[in-house]
Amino acid sequence: MANARTATLAIDRAFKIAEVDPRIFGSFIEHLGRAVYEGIYEPGHPKADKNGFRTDVAALVKELGVPIVRYPGGNFVSGYNWEDGVGPVDKRPRRLDLAWSTIEPNLIGVNEFADWARLVGAEINMTVNLGTRGPDEARALVEYCNHSAGSQWSDLRVSHGVREPHRVRTWCLGNEMDGPWQISHKTADEYGRVACEAAKVMKWVDPGIELVACGSSHSHMPTFPMWESTVLDHVYDHVDYISLHSYFTNYENDIDNFLAKSLDMDAYIRTVVAACDVAQAKHRGKKKINLSFDEWNVWFHSREDDKKIAPWSEAPHLLEDIYTFEDALLVGCLLITLLNHSDRVKIACLAQLVNVIAPIMTEKGGAAWRQSIYYPFLHASRYGRGTALQVVVSSPRYDSKDFTDVPYVEATAVHNEPSNELTIFAVNRDKEGDMDLEADLRSFANYRFVEHLVLENPDLKAVNTKNKETVAPHPLAGDKLDGGRLRTRLPKLSWNVIRLKG
Ligand code: AHR
Repeated sequence: MANARTATLAIDRAFKIAEVDPRIFGSFIEHLGRAVYEGIYEPGHPKADKNGFRTDVAALVKELGVPIVRYPGGNFVSGYNWEDGVGPVDKRPRRLDLAWSTIEPNLIGVNEFADWARLVGAEINMTVNLGTRGPDEARALVEYCNHSAGSQWSDLRVSHGVREPHRVRTWCLGNEMDGPWQISHKTADEYGRVACEAAKVMKWVDPGIELVACGSSHSHMPTFPMWESTVLDHVYDHVDYISLHSYFTNYENDIDNFLAKSLDMDAYIRTVVAACDVAQAKHRGKKKINLSFDEWNVWFHSREDDKKIAPWSEAPHLLEDIYTFEDALLVGCLLITLLNHSDRVKIACLAQLVNVIAPIMTEKGGAAWRQSIYYPFLHASRYGRGTALQVVVSSPRYDSKDFTDVPYVEATAVHNEPSNELTIFAVNRDKEGDMDLEADLRSFANYRFVEHLVLENPDLKAVNTKNKETVAPHPLAGDKLDGGRLRTRLPKLSWNVIRLKG
């Protein structure tokens, strides 16, 4: 494009942020809407396996390379009795789920979910109920899942036909306990106390587990960031991570402001890192508390429809956001932000995985397909493994309704040393035109160009359906790499993946 502006990147293999923890490409399955029933599990579906799991859905999850899946909630967990979901299926209760006003049939529980996690090659990030329940049920669940045998709860698991322990490594101490909507919402002190006592007994059962304390439900909560400080005062000695949650909206239909919302995630992460470091200093501690961004996504399209759903139905079409091309661009910016904080963000879960605010949609008895947001997540998960590098970005900037000095180009780079691959991820937020990009890659002078994938679309509201993938990546030609200098073009409003190999 003739009038393109220019941005520059400087990338050096010596300027490392951190090794990317693969768990930042995690996701989330809650007992909510059609995530479990009609999502991952649909006995009778033509593609269901002998356990009732949809193999077409499992194949898409495997393609995404999701290494860890948070389960079983979400808000659901704060009223959940895990014992309801184990043992003979015909004896399991049908419960009212007060979080989403639905009926939970308990056909899937811990053991079935572990089977599914094995099928897709993911580990479980288990959340315990610190709403209606507490330390006693939490330690019993750790014993049921992780103790080999010879005790009450481990023997119960064995009696349920599961001889080998599940060895769940990562555990969340409740969900969004700062939110008044939560079943048994707590003050920071109330939560901090119960989380501390739960953490102690859970780790006494299995010292090998890692624990995530609940941080704020989002950065605009009135109690943020004092919640973090108070909770960390209680739990610093006993936990490894604190959680962050964020969902982004575009009610105003303002693309400039919407795409700048990853700056909000960036500021939120920085503040929580500061709170963790203050807690460390107060405790005179050696341990760094890291971050688990265990719920993040765009969520707003389905809000009005959800109000029309009658209560107490089973597997209703709740939170079924149909994602647009512009949502995929923001998801790309959010992934770049997570990678740029990979020194402290060690776990992150795209919320959620199937049907419920998800990259994968299904039809009962029918197809499974990829939403627009599937693609940036796929690219980041596939090519974002290795060492995140500090990219110096110099880009023209703009101001939007809520943000100032927003760079048009958001970028990061990941160097996979064992496979000699360098991948640059970049979003061009500019709606007016393409951006010329020049990257100084002197320390990768011997690398050659592999491909430049781009997600672009003239229609910001374009969506994928079961019949048509309107939003899908394609290769872009024209990149020039010469002596460690890359010259390329980022099309207006686009997600870009530039791959080089040594
Ligand atoms: O992911 C949907 C819901 O969002 C989760 O149940 C809750 O934790 C959050 O508010």
